[in-house]
Amino acid sequence: MPNSESSPADSASVDAEADWEARYQAGSTRWDRGGPSPSLEQWLQRTALKPGARIVVPGCGFGHEVPTLAARGFHVIGLDVAPTPVEQLRSDLDHAGLEADVVQADMLSWRPEAPVDGVYEQTSLCALPPAQWPAYERQLHAWLRPGGELFACFMQTGREGGPPFHCALPAMRELFPADRWDWRDEAGRTDHTNGKYELLHRLIRR
Ligand SMILES: C[S@@+](CC[C@H](N)C(=O)[O-])C[C@H]1O[C@@H](n2cnc3c(N)ncnc32)[C@H](O)[C@@H]1O
Repeated sequence: MPNSESSPADSASVDAEADWEARYQAGSTRWDRGGPSPSLEQWLQRTALKPGARIVVPGCGFGHEVPTLAARGFHVIGLDVAPTPVEQLRSDLDHAGLEADVVQADMLSWRPEAPVDGVYEQTSLCALPPAQWPAYERQLHAWLRPGGELFACFMQTGREGGPPFHCALPAMRELFPADRWDWRDEAGRTDHTNGKYELLHRLIRR
């Protein structure tokens, strides 16, 4: 697995790192399931990707999905801006005897060395302020090879503000337009606490 690159941190990256690291330091991580999300199994049942494919998990946090993907033979790059979950995930992988790249970087500026085959996007888009969503979409498009898969878990909160920010489906259709993304499968939903849930979609990068 080649190493990955990141651009020099700008002030927004520094802010994101400080903001999210403070949540981890305070133990304020209510989003964390303590294990892989059932959403991952929905993707694995549908994906055309085979073991050996290169997959990015952006905003992975403690990244319980990363060892699961690594154990299935995928080359995984877990990416997060906060140091604490990055260190924890590296340690978890080590203890499990599994290999993956775990990168501490801002997903709005990081680039892989070569295009990847898949992106598993879970509670990452909804962690970003909506003003940053177009830049994030451009990143996902740039990371993936043509024909690569984006498995997106679009957070539904039904309320203003965030994080997590509400990812209404009409807004997602505009953010991931049909001339850049082929919306291939609906894959159901995954429930969270307090009535929140994610809508699962498999998109192919054109
Ligand atoms: C709500 S948590 C979700 C973590 C994980 N995906 C999960 O489902 O448990 C959002 C994660 O995104 C990370 N994050 C926020 N902004 C980021 C950025 N600009 N670049 C990389 N990671 C970021 C945070 O540090 C945090 O770990």
